[in-house]
Amino acid sequence: MSLYGNMNSTGDALGCVCDLRSDTMTRPDDAMRAAISTANVGDDVYGEDPSVTALEARMAQMLDKEAAVFFPTGTQSNLAAVMAHCGRGDEVIIGDSYHIYCDEAAGASVLAGVSMNAIAADLDGALSPALVADNIKDDDPHYARSRLLCLENTVGGQVISLTKMQAAAQVAWNSGLAVHLDGARFFNAITVLGCRATDLAKCADTVSVCLSKGLGAPAGSVLLGPQAVMSQARRNRKILGGAMRQAGVLAAAGLYALDNNIPDLAQDHARAARMGDALRKLNVGEVKQGSNMLFFTPAPEHHQPLGIHMANAGVRIGGQSPAIRMVLHRDVTDEGLDTAIAAFRSYYS
Ligand SMILES: Cc1ncc(COP(=O)(O)O)c(C=O)c1O
Repeated sequence: MSLYGNMNSTGDALGCVCDLRSDTMTRPDDAMRAAISTANVGDDVYGEDPSVTALEARMAQMLDKEAAVFFPTGTQSNLAAVMAHCGRGDEVIIGDSYHIYCDEAAGASVLAGVSMNAIAADLDGALSPALVADNIKDDDPHYARSRLLCLENTVGGQVISLTKMQAAAQVAWNSGLAVHLDGARFFNAITVLGCRATDLAKCADTVSVCLSKGLGAPAGSVLLGPQAVMSQARRNRKILGGAMRQAGVLAAAGLYALDNNIPDLAQDHARAARMGDALRKLNVGEVKQGSNMLFFTPAPEHHQPLGIHMANAGVRIGGQSPAIRMVLHRDVTDEGLDTAIAAFRSYYS
């Protein structure tokens, strides 16, 4: 079953009080909308949008990278990064559960002639350094050229330690590969790790960071890395459909999120843990929780009726099978969470 469920209906249309399908459901609040409405804007294709320039500079400083480029989506940001590191016939080594491999329509292969070597990620989402090393190909005309290692953190909500990130990256660097980190939920990861943004960012040459998930902005991803790679990524953005003009309205939302919303991620994690505890007490299926995500595996015959029961109670949960994904985010209040927990209890009572 698709991860994405019924995309034609909004939570509101269904009288939804609590939408747990994804942290992409977050909507800009009044203060963010005020920041959007007063944003200084210009034509970013001319490099003249002051809000975009400010966002890129702020993120580059936060992560201690030379340069940054603003993209509308994480998917485009990741693809532009892969294309900046790799040419046709090059190969990316990547975790077999990672978003770039599973959920980005094979864009790197379709558009850039890059092959994906998906290796088994460990249970915690990390890549074993030994397995990475085994998969780096010799320079031989029979083989694709191993060029890039793609890491991800968080992976399905799970947070990978800095030690594991560094160990995998080091193996790649030792063999002359570059390292890209899909940090769609970069700030969730550093919140759990209790580290600085620079500590995680230095585990990779390039990092993509989404603003449109737990941080609550309506759109946007920032790609960061060395100046030369970012210049190529900016060119790739054009190849992939071009840039946005007065994108400052989106960048202003991103700047607002960086200024105000990062500390709130800890609350999302605490709420996910509370929901995990409540589900474990029911003892009706496996529960896995990390950062803001929960995966609950009901008995197969309960899968569909449970979804309907929850929807009738105003709670939308993921449609994935066998494990249902639920994601806590800033638009889910304690009351919404109480409603969701009560609905699970009433289903199983
Ligand atoms: C880990 C990860 N990377 C990348 C993306 C892509 O982001 P976008 O939806 O902005 O294209 C997502 C989206 O959910 C994601 O979860």
